[in-house]
Amino acid sequence: MTKNKSNRQWLYSQNKDFYVKKAREFNFRSRAVYKLMEINQKDDLIKSNYCVVDLGSSPGSWSQYLSSIIKSKGKIIAIDLLPMESIKHVTHITGDFTDKSVLKKCLRHTGNNGADLVISDMAPNLTGIKTTDQSRNLAQAELVLVFCTQTLKADGNLLIKLFEGEGIKAFRELLKQKFDKVLVRKPSASRDKSREFYILARSFRL
Ligand SMILES: C[S@@+](CC[C@H](N)C(=O)[O-])C[C@H]1O[C@@H](n2cnc3c(N)ncnc32)[C@H](O)[C@@H]1O
Repeated sequence: MTKNKSNRQWLYSQNKDFYVKKAREFNFRSRAVYKLMEINQKDDLIKSNYCVVDLGSSPGSWSQYLSSIIKSKGKIIAIDLLPMESIKHVTHITGDFTDKSVLKKCLRHTGNNGADLVISDMAPNLTGIKTTDQSRNLAQAELVLVFCTQTLKADGNLLIKLFEGEGIKAFRELLKQKFDKVLVRKPSASRDKSREFYILARSFRL
């Protein structure tokens, strides 16, 4: 093993411990919260009066963070296949975000105005086979884009987790047709060796 590689591995495990410990210390349900926090600090993504849809919300750290900013001034709708322990100011819908009944429930909460922001930290069931997992993630991302056309208001924003690989370039081009700005983000809590990254797409064109 090269020195660089072992250094990186050491740093990775340190970082992992760091975010896990920090999440525990501040009562967040997952270290994933630090990814959203870093992006929000850089991009000023979440406003207190926003209506936000959190896709793939369980166990709930992103929703906890949204709740701490939005409180009762805006709305937070969290959707996951799995149930989620309740969080103040958050409405949770258990189900698949692609189900019509889930969409209907979601639209009841977003109302006629639609959502200001859709955030997706979803990951399909991972097989461990990189190409399969990556193409499933991309297929899911395309469905998130469909979901946005049904729920986002004009000028609304999307933050979505993706995995580097085939088809990503084309997906970014597709996003560029639907949003004014498409930005790539790799927060420090996102593991170096992981192909995961986030795209922040700003100002949705209806
Ligand atoms: C990495 S976790 C999200 C962690 C979350 N952001 C947090 O901070 O606690 C990914 C979630 O996506 C959910 N998921 C995957 N496919 C889904 C789908 N089709 N509809 C709704 N949720 C889905 C999984 O059940 C899982 O809980």
